[in-house]
Amino acid sequence: MSAQNSLPPSIKTEIPGPGSQRLSKRLSEVETHDVTCLNPPPIFWQKSSGANIWDVDGNRFIDLSAAFGVANVGHSHPDVVAAAERESRELLHGMGDVYPSESKVALLEKLTSHFPQGEKSRTTLSSSGSDAVETAIKTSILKTGRSSILAFEGAYHGLSLGTLPVTHNVKFRKPFESRLPRSTHFARFDDINHVEATMAAMNEKPAAILVEPVQGRGGENVPQPGFLPFLRDLCDKHEVLLIADEIYTGFGRTGTFFACNREEIVPDLLCLGKGMSSGMPISACIGRESVMNSWPKSKGEALHTQTFLGHPPGCSAALASIEIIERMNLSLRAKELGDKALNFLCERLTENSKVSEVRGLGLMIGIECTNSSTAQATVQECLRRGIILLPSGEKGTVLSITPPLNISSEILSFALTTIVESLEDQQ
Ligand SMILES: Cc1ncc(COP(=O)(O)O)c(C=O)c1O
Repeated sequence: MSAQNSLPPSIKTEIPGPGSQRLSKRLSEVETHDVTCLNPPPIFWQKSSGANIWDVDGNRFIDLSAAFGVANVGHSHPDVVAAAERESRELLHGMGDVYPSESKVALLEKLTSHFPQGEKSRTTLSSSGSDAVETAIKTSILKTGRSSILAFEGAYHGLSLGTLPVTHNVKFRKPFESRLPRSTHFARFDDINHVEATMAAMNEKPAAILVEPVQGRGGENVPQPGFLPFLRDLCDKHEVLLIADEIYTGFGRTGTFFACNREEIVPDLLCLGKGMSSGMPISACIGRESVMNSWPKSKGEALHTQTFLGHPPGCSAALASIEIIERMNLSLRAKELGDKALNFLCERLTENSKVSEVRGLGLMIGIECTNSSTAQATVQECLRRGIILLPSGEKGTVLSITPPLNISSEILSFALTTIVESLEDQQ
């Protein structure tokens, strides 16, 4: 298994080190508040390879976040970098919807080949996860003529004005409430009765049910088997579209290529981003052909596009990343490593009074702490010991573990042991 540069941590300075502290001070003068959290000051990244990150002070870390679930094939994978480099030299920028590049065609063909159950599909590319969700929402409006969405408590679909209404956490929505449509109804995740009741209480049928097959930023919430098939049946019964937001779960993360594949669900629309390219800002909304064909044929100016749609280096990087996932069967690896990691954590943390649950699917694992201060303290302590972790959950109570899918088994064990020990030290 290629586990490029998976090395143990090497911490040479206090954390954050003097270089990070200096940069933090400079950043505080120029960046808008509430973008980068500077209290405590972060480490500033300088270099990455595989599961390793080096900061500006020369400290080496193991990244158990894959940078928000992006680096599925590892950070700065040489094949991905080479593909982006090659394309950048030839064609740094295309005109994605006017004069497209061959790399866009090849990427769309590749994505189509992975649409669940081999169903014929069409794709619209974009730059961020939020863009992909917005494309799916626009498509569902075009297809159904309706505009309400049934989404879920705990859902995170982005922070753009188009996705804020379907992201559940009030903290993000409240300052902008006056500008947001009130056409989202939130049902409890993984609660069949509540979904039915929520749907019944809506004045008009929703255009779509929008669901993350496993909630990511909501805290690694894995639904019971049967929940997604239930949503599929409900959508079919009411002629409502099913949008699967696989921006976090896609490309092998949960042990199958898409999380929908686990129960052989075919969504009407599938949103992708993050791990699609393992590091370039590119995303996609793929849909069943019959649904995507509700977009009218182009008569000139595109009804939906972006300046950087089909960005050639992004397309080439995504193709290279997907080919690595296929070649190395990283979906299976995520399943095997994930099962082992989950067992290990469950065993070691059952007696820990600071931990209320350990859950996950593939390499998307959450440790639910009894309060957010334990989670925060563990994130900081792990960072001091050379492990990068992110908190998740709407209350910040979960330790999120989403490493690169090709992390070596030894390095993953080392990092998990560090988390367990940090939690033990707080008992
Ligand atoms: C499931 C899901 N959907 C959408 C998004 C938004 O993606 P982006 O931040 O690239 O806009 C995220 C980001 O974390 C996500 O996890």
